[in-house]
Amino acid sequence: MEKQLVTVRPLKKSDRKKIAEYANNKKIWQNLRDIMPHPYTLEDADVFLQMVALEDPLCTFAIAYKGKFAGVCGLNLETDIYRNSCEIGYWIGEPFWSKGIATEAVGWLAKYAFEKLGKVRIHTGVFEYNVASMRVLEKCGFEKEGVFRKALTKDGKLYNEVRYALVK
Ligand SMILES: CC(C)(COP(=O)(O)OP(=O)(O)OC[C@H]1O[C@@H](n2cnc3c(N)ncnc32)[C@H](O)[C@@H]1OP(=O)(O)O)[C@@H](O)C(=O)NCCC(=O)NCCS
Repeated sequence: MEKQLVTVRPLKKSDRKKIAEYANNKKIWQNLRDIMPHPYTLEDADVFLQMVALEDPLCTFAIAYKGKFAGVCGLNLETDIYRNSCEIGYWIGEPFWSKGIATEAVGWLAKYAFEKLGKVRIHTGVFEYNVASMRVLEKCGFEKEGVFRKALTKDGKLYNEVRYALVK
């Protein structure tokens, strides 16, 4: 794995074309929340970048491979009694799959959540069919905490949600 070739950096307005190009992929949409549009247009990328520009602290980042935009990763900061927890999310453009990129990015973001944001728990839920994402989480030390049965509805069907967490 060429891990030194993966960098995580703030998003830039100039990422819009590549975001729209790679995000406009049903294989990506199928694994994410419906808040991610499909089809995904340049205007959708602009709205996304505008939302990220408002973040404080910064929680959403570009993932680059050999200096080129390859995907996005981010944290949703929880509130109230969950305020020391956050949810992690990520996607990689299909041309870059299976190069270890998501694993590097999730590892970086987990460190950021613990060390820079002071969080103690990072969690996420994965569609039952998303073996690649479960593998990424396991490679980063996340533990499977359980299965929420029929918790997810996507594309007209119900799926189990496999819950993972990494605790400091
Ligand atoms: C899931 C995703 C982020 C993985 O990104 P990636 O950069 O390809 O991930 P990595 O290369 O770091 O690791 C993928 C691992 O899954 C494995 N894998 C990939 N497809 C697989 C499959 N169908 N069955 C079993 N294992 C699979 C790879 O072999 C690799 O494991 P290994 O290192 O032990 O060989 C990417 O496929 C993606 O963006 N998918 C759509 C969006 C998504 O699912 N986001 C996460 C939502 S929870």
